[in-house]
Amino acid sequence: MLDQLDQLEKTALTELKGIQDEDALQRWKVSNLGRSSALMKTFDQLGSLAKDQRPIIGRRANEVKRALESALEAHSEALRQVSVERSLAAERLDITLPGRPVVRGRLHPATQTLKEIYKVFAEMGFQVYSSREVETDEYNFQLLNFPPHHPAREMQDTFFIDSGASRGDNPVVMRTHTSPGQIRAMREFSAQNPENPPPVRIILPGMCFRYEQITARSEIQFNQVEGLAVGEHITFGDLKGTLSDFARRMFSQDVRSRFRASHFPFTEPSAEMDIECFVCGGQGCPVCKRTGWLEILGCGMVHPVVLQNGGYDPSRFSGFAFGMGPERITMLRHRIEDIRAFWANDMRFLEQF
Ligand code: DAH
Repeated sequence: MLDQLDQLEKTALTELKGIQDEDALQRWKVSNLGRSSALMKTFDQLGSLAKDQRPIIGRRANEVKRALESALEAHSEALRQVSVERSLAAERLDITLPGRPVVRGRLHPATQTLKEIYKVFAEMGFQVYSSREVETDEYNFQLLNFPPHHPAREMQDTFFIDSGASRGDNPVVMRTHTSPGQIRAMREFSAQNPENPPPVRIILPGMCFRYEQITARSEIQFNQVEGLAVGEHITFGDLKGTLSDFARRMFSQDVRSRFRASHFPFTEPSAEMDIECFVCGGQGCPVCKRTGWLEILGCGMVHPVVLQNGGYDPSRFSGFAFGMGPERITMLRHRIEDIRAFWANDMRFLEQF
């Protein structure tokens, strides 16, 4: 019986060495270590052996069992290793290849200019005030001193959201400029303390909409940055000082600026501000149309009617306001010749900034 066990162990181990795959390994396990294998049967037969033979045969049978089990485990591990190596070789992954570059976005050129404008005015103590894009005729025009049918409305072709039939003379409109935010802001501030309204020093940026033919020079949507300062004893000198300083901080320390008389219903007096052409330094070039000057904003002293409409008593308060177009400033700076490029979403344009 001992010989049988020796033989059994030898054959099983030899057979195991030749096994190359998992299925054959399972079959080997069943026939050598399974319930009805010769080895397991030996254990069943132990009871029928002579008493002195039982421990000897039993111990040997256990040894063989352990030997087969550990050989099985080692062989199975070896097989697994081989299969891992085979699949590594077959499915070769070259991890040294550079990855596809991630396209990094960047700020839109108009946003870049807006952020610079915010920064300059923040340094001068102006807060950003956000106002709505959908307005009423009342705020967009009437409270700004444009009565119904006033000819100055002709400058601002308007998108009407409803006909106004049910709203009398007050249809809902897309704002044509950021100026209605002046009234909203003044009303909000003066409501905090109607007897003694606080001073105002804000800029109001945002999209404006006009029902215009789209051309290289005019779009139906564009940003504006409005500015408003209201307080006691504010003069035209403050307006000129603040805006000239803005131009120096925004464009260059030695840029010259000039003010030309103009007209807006909501300011009196009104002006347009030019800065010396930064392309030619004032010599005259195609960008400044040979004038040496670039128009960058409209401005003026807040009209008494507008102050009144905002809740600020014009006999006590005064103020100045201005409005500029950041896309226009961006166009001048980068010599962009077609305003349509801003909202056309053409990557070839956007990637240049
Ligand atoms: N709202 C004017 C426009 O869109 C721009 C403007 C001019 C704003 C003068 C102002 C200002 O605040 O004082 O044409």
